[in-house]
Amino acid sequence: MRALWPLDPSVAHLNHGSFGAVPSPVLAEQDRWRTLMDSNPTGFFWRFLPDALDNARVAVARFLRADPDGFVFATNATTAINTILASLELTSRDEVLVTDHGYGAIRLAAERACKLSGATLVVHQVPIPVESAAELVDAVIAGITDRTMIAIVDHIASPTGVVFPVADLVRELRGHEVLSLIDGAHAPGMVALDLCDLDADFWTGNFHKWCCAPRGAAGLYVRADHRERIAPLVTSWNAKERFVKSFGWLGTADYTPYLTVPAAIGFMEDLGWERLRRHNRELAAYGAAVVRDALDTPAPTEADVFEGMSLLALPEGSPDTIVGTRALSARIAEELGAEVAAFPWRDHSYIRLSAQAYNAPAEYEALAAGLPRLLS
Ligand SMILES: Cc1ncc(COP(=O)(O)O)c(C=O)c1O
Repeated sequence: MRALWPLDPSVAHLNHGSFGAVPSPVLAEQDRWRTLMDSNPTGFFWRFLPDALDNARVAVARFLRADPDGFVFATNATTAINTILASLELTSRDEVLVTDHGYGAIRLAAERACKLSGATLVVHQVPIPVESAAELVDAVIAGITDRTMIAIVDHIASPTGVVFPVADLVRELRGHEVLSLIDGAHAPGMVALDLCDLDADFWTGNFHKWCCAPRGAAGLYVRADHRERIAPLVTSWNAKERFVKSFGWLGTADYTPYLTVPAAIGFMEDLGWERLRRHNRELAAYGAAVVRDALDTPAPTEADVFEGMSLLALPEGSPDTIVGTRALSARIAEELGAEVAAFPWRDHSYIRLSAQAYNAPAEYEALAAGLPRLLS
């Protein structure tokens, strides 16, 4: 399996979650598109690209079980969420709700949107440990007030890897007349999706993480009743068109990541989604368990709320700033030959471990063997 990815064999790549990793056959497919583009740039952009992009868009919408009329490509989840925030016309009466499991850059984007509009950002704490996933729903809903206009909720949280029950959340939020923006940056590929069923007001997800597409490939879904008011961040030739066409051209760029998403999905599908998801879920849990045993630290929660990423708390006294945890990641890479995501969250420091098709138990066991010495 490992040979299908051009990953450095001397490194244990235990951080798929941050930047993904593109398999060689998918890179070859992107190369094919790039060669086509550069064999005749004018023909490619004027005559070939519009239909090719639309075919890719519709195929990917089908994979997500999304209405293709509400689905467009975006460079990444960050851009997609900024797009929604910029289009919403927040006012000083509104609150934007995010949780403390959210991705830092998205919180900053929400903070900026609030500052520009006079709205209020509410960063709501969602406690872990929890007994069950249902508690997560109640905890998010407890952050709503009668001023909450929109809640941005991660499907799979960035710092903790916790999988939120987004279907229940969307339903509850709608019941409280709060718009839902589901940040599914990690969702496509890690979990099965049905965006029609989910029926969120807004959704975004990255294909360059768990679908292993080239970087710069994400999606934005907008529910039918909001499509008129959602415009791209960048005004370009299609500005006077309606959604989805308004997003079809955002200036000269390399659109090959989008064109390659169907091939990436096909590649992963050939590995078998169910088999792959089980492998990743079990391996991530195993990896965290062996490292926790070695460090003698407790599980952050016993509830069954993880998929392809797991979380382990570092012992007291470990670095607890971004600079400190980055330095720790660098030491782990240099001395133990493993790439891991170490970061502070709340008042503590953690390592988030990913498991993807190319990972194996021995990589986590080696980390468990070396980490205690490095932290002592
Ligand atoms: C929950 C979440 N949202 C947003 C992002 C940002 O993704 P991107 O850098 O592709 O925009 C990430 C990245 O890890 C994430 O985990």
